[in-house]
Amino acid sequence: MDPKLTFLNHGSFGSLPRVVRQAQEAWRVRIESNPIEWIGRRNIESLVAVKKPLARFVGCQPNDLGFVTNATEGVNAVLRSLRFESGDELLTCDHVYNAVRQAMKFRAQETGARVVEVPIALPVRDQDHAMNCILNAITPRTRLIVIDHITSPTALRFDVQKIIDAVKGTRAHVLVDGAHAPGAIQLSLDTLGAHFYAANLHKWTMAPRGSAFVWVAPQFQKDVHPCVISHEFANGFTAEFDWQGTRDLSAWNSIDAALEWFDELGAERVLGHNHQLATWAHQLLCAELSFEPLSPMDGSMLSCMASVRLPAFLQHKFQTPEAMQEHLLDVERIEVPIFPWNQQWLLRVSAAIHNAPAHYERLVEALRKCLA
Ligand SMILES: Cc1ncc(COP(=O)(O)O)c(C=O)c1O
Repeated sequence: MDPKLTFLNHGSFGSLPRVVRQAQEAWRVRIESNPIEWIGRRNIESLVAVKKPLARFVGCQPNDLGFVTNATEGVNAVLRSLRFESGDELLTCDHVYNAVRQAMKFRAQETGARVVEVPIALPVRDQDHAMNCILNAITPRTRLIVIDHITSPTALRFDVQKIIDAVKGTRAHVLVDGAHAPGAIQLSLDTLGAHFYAANLHKWTMAPRGSAFVWVAPQFQKDVHPCVISHEFANGFTAEFDWQGTRDLSAWNSIDAALEWFDELGAERVLGHNHQLATWAHQLLCAELSFEPLSPMDGSMLSCMASVRLPAFLQHKFQTPEAMQEHLLDVERIEVPIFPWNQQWLLRVSAAIHNAPAHYERLVEALRKCLA
């Protein structure tokens, strides 16, 4: 990474560890050496070899995983496969990722279903307070609940287990948007017992961009198809997701390199470092700049990111979040996102293994200048 840059946005897109980049480059060379061999004959074999360690990493059965290129595609695969009827409700909350909100709206428009978006007001007191907002909005018409495992603008970790447990035996199914989860929190998808789970590996697992998966509970696999329908239509979940047309397989094939690298560092160590740093950075921003915390200060609702609410003064000063973000980048060389959210501006810091306390101290000084 550019050493002059203070990079606090690993949550959007992170840089690849060198060994993972080299593994992907090696895959590209291997594929170029005989494309028919690696895309045509041995593609399934190579994907099976990657699914095994990935399944161990996220706690599931290899055949319950379908590869996609990003979490948006995984969410779309589920939403566009399920049948909804007029009057059905697709439930989410106002912390939902906008691309996912749009996919829900699209599907609702097509089917006559309705998107219900419940507010979870900030600051969030605790998990019960947040999850009860969703639970209280479930009606006999709720068909699908789309809930983030870790939210994007507000950077909150939601206890999705509470929702999954609450809807057992009802008509409502749960799609977890786990875009930020693998490599950020421990996952055990089999134990979690959601109906559908979509996740990125390009964020916190540090696999190449283009690597993501959708997990589908076995009883629903016959109903879920990739966004791209290809030769294997109706030949089963695994076959359909394994062949979605000709594509560059180097990202999926390099997932195991990222997992090995993660293993060498120690998953617990990485997760612990990132969570502690995010919790500390959250405390620092609130203590030094008198920002209001959005969630408990003990970090119990954080993973490896934290968001704080910026004072209204900064909205008047910069007019748009983009302008403030650009100022921090141009003048201070700090890459940090500012999200408009329900008329407020939220600044989100990420805590990855390449981050250190000095990065957040630099941000505090830069924000102090903005506030002066
Ligand atoms: C919560 C959430 N869902 C979905 C996505 C979409 O991820 P992608 O752009 O990789 O599809 C993101 C991206 O940051 C996200 O934060």
